[in-house]
Amino acid sequence: MSYETTLGRYILAVDDAIKKYLSDARIHPPLASAMEYSAMAGGKRLRPCLLLAANELAGGAIEAALPFAAAIEMIHTYSLIHDDLPAMDDDSLRRGKPTNHVVYGEGMAVLAGDGLLNYAMQIMLSAALEDESRKALRAASEIAERAGVWGMIAGQAEDLLAVNREPNEKALYYIHTHKTADMLVAALRAGGIIGGADDALLSALTVYGEKLGLAFQIQDDLLDLYGNAASLGKSTGKDEKENKLTFPALFGAERSMTMQGQYCREAADALSAYDSQFLATMAYRLSKRES
Ligand code: IPE
Ligand code: IPE
Ligand code: MG
Ligand code: MG
Ligand code: MG
Repeated sequence: MSYETTLGRYILAVDDAIKKYLSDARIHPPLASAMEYSAMAGGKRLRPCLLLAANELAGGAIEAALPFAAAIEMIHTYSLIHDDLPAMDDDSLRRGKPTNHVVYGEGMAVLAGDGLLNYAMQIMLSAALEDESRKALRAASEIAERAGVWGMIAGQAEDLLAVNREPNEKALYYIHTHKTADMLVAALRAGGIIGGADDALLSALTVYGEKLGLAFQIQDDLLDLYGNAASLGKSTGKDEKENKLTFPALFGAERSMTMQGQYCREAADALSAYDSQFLATMAYRLSKRES
């Protein structure tokens, strides 16, 4: 099956699952609207697609992995809603639309983010309660650790603190590893676990995710400098203005491009022992992405 066909199949399944979860009548209706606004605004769905691809590579069927794919995309979406708040990056455009707080107000945007995070945990725990093999519990724990205070939230905290400080390489790698790569690694490992991956495959998926995560955030930094807001669906030029610690700020744009390409190749190499055409192609496509 071609890369595009597989990607399309994954995105359709993830969109359906998220829509189904958010249509639950027990969610406070105005809160559900604010959550759905950002969750269905047209993100690339990178993390859930990685999760579903790792699950299939390990030999799993899509059904058992879908709650986790929906959950990680909800967690990612919450992180974007909060990242855009005036107290953080203060952005007014996301996924091609006005940001959540611009439409619903800051208070409701905070709650829409909280709601997506908590609902994701609820979805994963309820899948774990049904699964006697404990694979779902392991996958949930993997995602909670890497999205949380050891992972993405820690990276976001360092990203804020690095702003008016002497730039240094250690802090830069800490930020990119945690705010971005950890979420990709969480997706890949959770998918692998649900699919029944052995330790060797889980280690290979971890290295692939670490390298791809660095490459992905370097490209995000480069697109903030040179990208086009209309195709990106978010504002550009902010990192430099806000004095953010980014790869181009520390190493310059040219060297950052070289490093980005290198990390993408290293990502693909990490899975060379496996029949993982989809993930190898994904690494290549992301190295060229413009949105
Ligand atoms: C944006 O993530 C935040 C970063 C970690 C760079 P994406 O570029 O995956 O955003 P969406 O999900 O497609 O909107
Ligand atoms: C944010 O990084 C990563 C998250 C964990 C949300 P950025 O602040 O660079 O992401 P964009 O550029 O706003 O998407
Ligand atoms: Mg940010
Ligand atoms: Mg931002
Ligand atoms: Mg950015």
